[in-house]
Amino acid sequence: MNIYIITGTSSGIGGAIARHLVDAREGVITISRRENIPLSRIAKTNSSFFRHYAFDLTQTGKIPELMEYIFTSFKEVKLNGIALVNNAGTIDPIGPSGKLDVSGIEAHLKTNLVAPAILINEFIRLSRPLKVSKSILNISSGAAHKPYAGWSNYCASKAGLDMLTQSIAMEQSAEEYPVRIISLAPGIVETSMQQKIRATSAEQFPMQKKFADLYKNQGLSQPDTVASGIIPIIFSDKPESGTFSDLRYL
Ligand SMILES: NC(=O)c1ccc[n+]([C@@H]2O[C@H](COP(=O)([O-])OP(=O)(O)OC[C@H]3O[C@@H](n4cnc5c(N)ncnc54)[C@H](OP(=O)(O)O)[C@@H]3O)[C@@H](O)[C@H]2O)c1
Repeated sequence: MNIYIITGTSSGIGGAIARHLVDAREGVITISRRENIPLSRIAKTNSSFFRHYAFDLTQTGKIPELMEYIFTSFKEVKLNGIALVNNAGTIDPIGPSGKLDVSGIEAHLKTNLVAPAILINEFIRLSRPLKVSKSILNISSGAAHKPYAGWSNYCASKAGLDMLTQSIAMEQSAEEYPVRIISLAPGIVETSMQQKIRATSAEQFPMQKKFADLYKNQGLSQPDTVASGIIPIIFSDKPESGTFSDLRYL
C-alpha cells in the first residue's frame, strides 16, 4: 500500500485528491482545520487506511510532533511508497502592500511557505530509514513565476515553495532511497479560493475581471479533473525531481 499525507483536504483540490485515493483504497492521511465529513464517511465504509488530523498549519512549531505521530500511525502497514502532498494554501490577504494586516501576512507565509518547509523537513527525516519510494508534491501556481498586483505574498510564497523544490532535489540526488520532489501548478480551478478571488474588488486586485470572465466563460477546471491528472504523477518519474510544471501543459 502507498501512504499519502495530504494537507488542505477539507475542500477544493486537496479534497478531490484525497477522495480519489480513498476510492482507490490507498492509505490516506489528511490534515486541515475542518474535517471533510463526506470523505471520512466514505473512508470508513471503504475500510482503507484513513486518518484525519484537525490541525492549523499556522501552528508551525507543532508540526514536528504531528509528523512524529503520523509516522507512528502506519508502522504496521506494509509500505510500497510514501508521499507528502503540500496542497493547503491561502490567497489571503489580497490587496496592495501598505494596506495589509500584519497578522494576515504572518498567517499567509506560515500556511503557504513555513508549514510546507517544516513538513518537508520532517518527512525527509522520518522517512530516511524506509526503503520505499518517496515523493513530495508541492502544489504551486503560475503566480510563482508571474507577478500580480494585490497578490504579493501569494506570488512570493509560491516562488519560495518552488525554490525549496529545486534545492531539496539537489540534496536528495545522492541518497540511496531519495525523495523525489516536484512543484506543480494545477491551472485555474473552481474552488473556494477562486470564489474569494471573484469576490475581491478591482481596487484590491486589478486582475479580478480576468478571473471573473474566465468563470463566466466556463474556463475553469474542476477539482475532480485536476485530481485525476495529479494522482498518476505522484509516484511517476516524470516530471523530473526538482522541476516546476503546469498540469495544463503536461
Ligand atoms: N484554485 C485555483 O485556481 C488554484 C490555482 C493555483 C494554485 N492553487 C493552489 O491549490 C491549493 C489548494 O487550493 P484550492 O484552490 O483547492 O482552495 P481551497 O478550496 O480554499 O482549499 C484550501 C485548503 O487549504 C486548507 N488550509 C488553508 N489554511 C490552512 C491552515 N492554516 N491549516 C490547515 N489547512 C489550511 C483548507 O482547509 P481548512 O480551511 O479546513 O483548514 C482547505 O482544505 C493551494 O495551495 C492553492 O494555492 C489553486
